[in-house]
Amino acid sequence: MVYFLPLFSNLFFLVVSAFTSQPTELFFPGFSDTKSDNLTLTGAAKIEKNGILCLTNATGPLLGHAFYSSPLRLKSSAKGKAFSFSTSFAFAIVPEYPALGGHGLAFVITTSKDLKALPRQYLGIQNATETGDSPSNHDLVAVEFDTVQDLEFLDIDDNHVGIDINSLDSNASAPAGFYTEDSTKQNLTLMSGKPIQAWVDYDSVENILNVTIAPNSTRPRLPMLSFGVDLSPFFHEFMYVGFSASTGLLSSSHCILGWSFKINGEAQGLDLSSLPSLPGPPNKHTALIVGASVPSVILVILAVSFAIYFLVKINNDDVIEDWELEIGPKRYSYHELKQATKGFSAKNLLGHGSFGRVYKGKLRDSKTQVAVKRVSHESNQGLREFLSEISGIGRLRHRNLVQLLGWCRRRGDLLLVYDFMANGSLDKFLFDEPKKTLNWGDRFRVINGVAIGLLYLHEGYEQVVIHRDVKASNVLLDDELNGKLGDFGLARLYEHGSNLRTTRVVGTLGYLAPEVTRTGKATTSSDVYAFGALLLEVVCGRRPIEPKALPLELGLVDWVWKMYREGRVFDVVDPRLNGQYGEDEMLMVLKLGLICSDDVPVARPSMRQVVRYLDGEAELPDF
Ligand SMILES: *[C@@H]1O[C@H](CO)[C@@H](O)[C@H](O)[C@H]1NC(C)=O
Ligand SMILES: *[C@@H]1O[C@H](CO)[C@@H](O)[C@H](O)[C@H]1NC(C)=O
Ligand SMILES: *[C@@H]1O[C@H](CO)[C@@H](O)[C@H](O)[C@H]1NC(C)=O
Ligand SMILES: *[C@@H]1O[C@H](CO)[C@@H](O)[C@H](O)[C@H]1NC(C)=O
Ligand SMILES: *[C@@H]1O[C@H](CO)[C@@H](O)[C@H](O)[C@H]1NC(C)=O
Ligand SMILES: *[C@@H]1O[C@H](CO)[C@@H](O)[C@H](O)[C@H]1NC(C)=O
Ligand SMILES: *[C@@H]1O[C@H](CO)[C@@H](O)[C@H](O)[C@H]1NC(C)=O
Repeated sequence: MVYFLPLFSNLFFLVVSAFTSQPTELFFPGFSDTKSDNLTLTGAAKIEKNGILCLTNATGPLLGHAFYSSPLRLKSSAKGKAFSFSTSFAFAIVPEYPALGGHGLAFVITTSKDLKALPRQYLGIQNATETGDSPSNHDLVAVEFDTVQDLEFLDIDDNHVGIDINSLDSNASAPAGFYTEDSTKQNLTLMSGKPIQAWVDYDSVENILNVTIAPNSTRPRLPMLSFGVDLSPFFHEFMYVGFSASTGLLSSSHCILGWSFKINGEAQGLDLSSLPSLPGPPNKHTALIVGASVPSVILVILAVSFAIYFLVKINNDDVIEDWELEIGPKRYSYHELKQATKGFSAKNLLGHGSFGRVYKGKLRDSKTQVAVKRVSHESNQGLREFLSEISGIGRLRHRNLVQLLGWCRRRGDLLLVYDFMANGSLDKFLFDEPKKTLNWGDRFRVINGVAIGLLYLHEGYEQVVIHRDVKASNVLLDDELNGKLGDFGLARLYEHGSNLRTTRVVGTLGYLAPEVTRTGKATTSSDVYAFGALLLEVVCGRRPIEPKALPLELGLVDWVWKMYREGRVFDVVDPRLNGQYGEDEMLMVLKLGLICSDDVPVARPSMRQVVRYLDGEAELPDF
């Protein structure tokens, strides 16, 4: 008995302490992946080895929560007045590709740390059935840092801070920014990948909630957002505090670098410079390597070009011109590619892509499998223009684009070296009695991938890149059946035509927007048209123009329109799917295909809008 007493009293003490000595202050100058941090992480949230708390990584759709494990006492009693509080935290939102991130991050005070919520525009704090009204299962006060403009919640723009009380329809919001000493507002890009410090202060005497952000730890004098509100009706006596973030088709890593919180007082200051820092952008690293080895690279290039020059002379082959040495991606030797493809043997022939044959190859040095596309071209001028374009395009890197590894020119032949895609092109899974077909889940994932890849070409790079030839045979599938867009920019080579005096219309019939056949000018909007045709192909399992089809059914778009008007739209769906699909999703894709295929360019959505529709963020307009 004697032994039990201390044990018992110990336990008693702990229980009591849970109710009487609630922490009134939290301080995390970085996080540690041990229990002692007392954080409850759910969803994709995790603490990285470097002490950074990441709520999501840059894939989607994900949601992540991190709450202080025990609730804090934010009110004197159930019916009392809310306490004042102050909090400061540093965060960084790192999109995988510049300008293509989503959705956002929120500081959250809520009654339950087990939020039944959704990713995407719901930021992990609300669920679709509760939209607009007070959530039935929890009371919630949040400050959102939102990087996507969700029309459903009347967001003001795609870079704003908002105060949300029991609803994602913000009660107050403003474009992200801060006031300088002379009270002028300066914008701040939330998803710049750089750390941002935020302060949230609630004064329960004045009934005011202020939000301030800055690019460093120097706190601006004026808040960017000031909202008069008494939080007492929304606070229960005990509330959980923490963070939530979510991603969708567009995604970013949402990370917290440090956090401090205090009830009835000012939160302990955080110093950005002493918090764990984000690993630098990956290209910084390569820039360094390149920088350090430029002299040796130049030497190698000189040596190689000398060697090639003589070899070429001996072979009576083309001389490499100066400009060719300035092209970005790797220049392979003809010899190397010939060897890699076993002399461009018929056995290695993968198929006839647009503009040329494609061979499978294995590079000797790296043992990597590649696809080598051999394009014939008579015009040196055209080649030169194309190559200077791919010197830029070679730097385009995206998981939904087939990576261009390098190139080689030999007389009128251009050889382009790409990543090898194990599953070949999408058309093989769709048309002409395919041996293997894709189920709807796979098809939908491929569509999403292509949409993101095309959005990256249009908006994610320094310059707008128009694909010009979006179609099923230019969509390639890797070993996991992820859709990747290939051959971007290649059509440009042929636009000038072998005969320089004329501008030829390039693209593939059935995917060509009507204005392109008139003007010969490709735009991002004509890419959207082709994407619309692709959507319909993937759904219907037939080409946009089926040579063998009845005259009435000649054009896929017209046929789908006709069936839609007759209320038989599901009759167009590929019978090979055996009816295994969600009707809402299918209808959305069909409608989207029709909207993208509008004859009037301005009536077509942008790729960014297309991605929103596919992500279920926005409802398609009725027509
Ligand atoms: C976690 O909880 C323990 C016990 O309540 C406390 O001693 C410790 O300070 C807490 N850690 C943090 C980081 O709040
Ligand atoms: C991102 O997080 C999800 C969920 O935690 C995980 O399944 C996935 O592997 C992560 N992806 C990367 C690239 O780290
Ligand atoms: C939404 O909230 C309701 C009520 O709290 C819950 O029953 C439902 O499961 C939630 N839905 C989702 C998709 O989480
Ligand atoms: C905040 O907005 C929600 C939804 O729009 C509304 O129900 C609520 O009354 C607002 N709260 C305040 C304090 O304005
Ligand atoms: C700041 O952002 C707002 C809203 O996005 C925009 O209207 C304004 O032009 C921007 N100001 C500057 C100086 O970029
Ligand atoms: C909120 O900001 C206003 C200025 O807009 C300031 O007068 C007030 O003291 C601030 N309150 C808190 C709690 O920071
Ligand atoms: C913090 O950022 C502001 C605005 O960019 C700048 O004026 C100020 O000098 C910076 N302070 C420090 C200590 O870097």
